[in-house]
Amino acid sequence: MSTPQLRAQFPALTQMLGDYPLVYLDTAATSQKPRRVLEAMARFYREDCANVHRAAHQLSARATQAYEAVRDALQHFIHAARREEIIFTHGTTEAINLLAWGLGERFGKDDLILVDSCAHHANLLPWQQLAKRSGARLEPIPLDKELRLDKAAFSLLLQQKPKLVALSHVSNVLGTVNDIQALCQDIRAAGAISVVDGAQAVAHLQLDMQQLGCDFYAFSGHKMYGPSGIGVLWGRYELLDTLEPLLTGGEMIKTVSFQDSTFGDLPNRLEAGTPPIAEVIGLGEAVAFLEQQDRQALALAEQKLLNKLQQGLSAIAGVELYAAHGDNLGAVAFNLKGEHHQDVGILLDQQGIAVRCGHHCAMPLMSLVGIKGCCRASVGIYTDEQDIKRFLDALRASAELLGY
Ligand code: ALA
Repeated sequence: MSTPQLRAQFPALTQMLGDYPLVYLDTAATSQKPRRVLEAMARFYREDCANVHRAAHQLSARATQAYEAVRDALQHFIHAARREEIIFTHGTTEAINLLAWGLGERFGKDDLILVDSCAHHANLLPWQQLAKRSGARLEPIPLDKELRLDKAAFSLLLQQKPKLVALSHVSNVLGTVNDIQALCQDIRAAGAISVVDGAQAVAHLQLDMQQLGCDFYAFSGHKMYGPSGIGVLWGRYELLDTLEPLLTGGEMIKTVSFQDSTFGDLPNRLEAGTPPIAEVIGLGEAVAFLEQQDRQALALAEQKLLNKLQQGLSAIAGVELYAAHGDNLGAVAFNLKGEHHQDVGILLDQQGIAVRCGHHCAMPLMSLVGIKGCCRASVGIYTDEQDIKRFLDALRASAELLGY
């Protein structure tokens, strides 16, 4: 359960929106940040502000030490086999673009790419672009009646020997969860590369890359209580080491002449240019913050709150819920029948409630569900019972206002 002490570490949560206390149920879009993340970033700019890997002076040495220590922390956090498997990117979107570019040369017109129908655009468009460049075929993996990945259809698709399968760990819209370990076993047996978008999983699950068995995993700092502008691409070393860099320039080279260049080793080879240093340090602080918590207890508490949210919503007249399964994580998607999701969002906002409304960067999923958009309420480790009650009361009041 989110304790008052835990919640008090997030300064943004104590504000009022007009006459109403803020009820922040948009953690799936971005999480709030604990004070220690904000302070670590400010401290870096105040005291150690220097570029990394570049100078003999002490400020640069301190910055480099802090930056590389976060790579170690992340290796530990996601149980990666090697520190060089942690590549800093600007976020999940860049991580997947880097991958689609880096793997691109090995795709041709006879190749098949499979993409989860729940995919966020960040895990669809890079593969779509790769398919256009290479002539490869892209197929969505169908969903079953419960809007979960259709395992029987997936098995049939695997028989077509795809070259790559892109999955979401947790759907950013519905909160449905894919059994990545089992799916990746099948993907590997079929001889394909597996890529997992973990943006919505990393704050909720304790991740173990060696246990999950995927080839690549991407996530963003800002959804795990860290800053925006920083993310991670993790990859199995042997595969990661074969990627063509998306960005070339400073930092990623061994030798350069006017005629040609040779590239450096991992991780630098995939981190051209000055990295987002303060953001890496902020992310390290978010990792330390999470590791300090009883994550199992918090995950259980979050699950209970999400289930309360699902049950509370289903009891409100006019509410339509989408794939609100008991084992979902983090988010619940809904509409008020016949009302535009944006109107519902505005009515909620007027009562201090922050939810996301729209297509959630998952337009193909919206088409499959048969809607143009929806509202999404999402929880984090600071969400408490009071938030859920205030949200349900506000939605009930909005539904009544609209004549339900
Ligand atoms: N990907 C983020 C979301 O789902 C922005 O809201």
